[in-house]
Amino acid sequence: MSASLATVSYIGATILFILSLGGLSNQETSRRGNLFGMVGMALAVAATVFGPQVTAAGIPWIVGAMVVGGAIGLYAARTVQMTQMPELVALMHSMVGMAAVLVGYATYVDPEATKGFEGAEHTIHAMEIYVGIFIGAVTFSGSVIAFGKLSGRVGGKPMLLPGRHWMNLAGLIAVIVFGRLFLQAETLQDGMLPLFVMTAIALLFGVHMVMAIGGADMPVVVSMLNSYSGWAAAATGFMLSNDLLIVTGALVGSSGAILSYIMCNAMNRSFISVIAGGFGTTAAAPKAAGGAAVEPAGEVTPILALETAEMLREAKNVIIVPGYGMAVAQAQHTVYEITKHLREKGVNVRFGIHPVAGRMPGHMNVLLAEARVPYDIVFEMDELNDDFPDTDVTMVIGANDIVNPAAQDDPTSPIAGMPVLEVWKARTSIVMKRSMASGYAGVDNPLFYKDNNRMLFGDAKKMLDEVLVALKS
Ligand code: TAP
Repeated sequence: MSASLATVSYIGATILFILSLGGLSNQETSRRGNLFGMVGMALAVAATVFGPQVTAAGIPWIVGAMVVGGAIGLYAARTVQMTQMPELVALMHSMVGMAAVLVGYATYVDPEATKGFEGAEHTIHAMEIYVGIFIGAVTFSGSVIAFGKLSGRVGGKPMLLPGRHWMNLAGLIAVIVFGRLFLQAETLQDGMLPLFVMTAIALLFGVHMVMAIGGADMPVVVSMLNSYSGWAAAATGFMLSNDLLIVTGALVGSSGAILSYIMCNAMNRSFISVIAGGFGTTAAAPKAAGGAAVEPAGEVTPILALETAEMLREAKNVIIVPGYGMAVAQAQHTVYEITKHLREKGVNVRFGIHPVAGRMPGHMNVLLAEARVPYDIVFEMDELNDDFPDTDVTMVIGANDIVNPAAQDDPTSPIAGMPVLEVWKARTSIVMKRSMASGYAGVDNPLFYKDNNRMLFGDAKKMLDEVLVALKS
């Protein structure tokens, strides 16, 4: 393939990636967005493999790597559960980081890569390598720890070392000092030591940064690492002089940063305080780790599936708030059946989606779309939070933190200030979960003890099946 054809293909792929991002911002166009992304990536890979930078001798290696990587990817995509997606994404970010580190070292030791660079050009190229390896190493180790935390292999509690901010500052100064030594190095051997030291500091920095973050801040960290992985890819693009990789990396980097910002807003957290870490460890420590049972702080009123069906049948306005438990129970199809039945009987059923419900952005939207719930009855939190006082019944299905009134009422709560769905303002709220256990943030939920709240204890799928049978009988 000629260089100009490769350039045209790269431009085409870039346009497809931008269209893909645009499509993914709305559930109605997301399938199309995915398709654009897939076609763009196929075009990008083909233009690179058959482009002028790859020799014929390199093609069997690339094909071999693609077969192995493709097989692993296919296996992972088929076996991974929806609830494990954030961990898988974190693992993938770590690979991007590792790739940036390896490409950085390979570029440094490859005499061909630096051929013809003199003076300022040589310095810029060395800086690209240094910065690329730094971002890649932080992304790699940070994402591995994020994977460990999300999959439960590493404890979710923030690890706060004394003087941690000073340690980070000292690390940063050391990275700058060794960067100077690296740029001044006359020979390959002289440059290797500062590069190794910086890589070690960057790896430790990534571990330290994510270990200090706990509880409900993890989603922001995953999207932040997504952004880092984009910048790492862009840095790789600079090292390899590949324009498409630079543009694609910048797209991922900036969209990840925007997503982090949106999520911080949704949780009422400032970006800096998320990065600084330590959420929920001061006086406002959570009463129990996420998922653990907490001391009951009052009386709850249990309800049966039959009574739930009765209330739904008599209601005119119903709002359903799904959460992580609906995903665990895979109850979305029964939720759809109940919705369909109620709508046929003239009940106004709507869904309220919190921006961080579940374990990944858009988690609930994906599940509801899979169950064929119509898009026009699925609303964002802000769109229907004012409607709860006019609602007869709210059904909270496996959600906890996102409907916790303590976020508004208790300034000492670890989730104080996080916007929540005000389900308790409805005439009756029904919370469906298996026990009194806390949610992801590990905080007790005063909603359970409110006079107008009922608890339907049990697995969400099983309970909703019973509600559906009762509704139809
Ligand atoms: P959570 O607060 O985690 O609550 C989920 C509840 O579902 C639990 O209290 C659990 O109680 C219940 N549950 C679990 N399995 C169930 C089943 N089979 N049947 C019925 N109930 C079940 O979830 P949420 O309200 O969706 O809030 C999300 C939380 O996760 C937030 O704190 C958010 O910050 C965090 N987070 C979000 C993301 C993203 S990007 N969305 C990523 C990581 C973390 P029982 O054990 O008693 O059943």
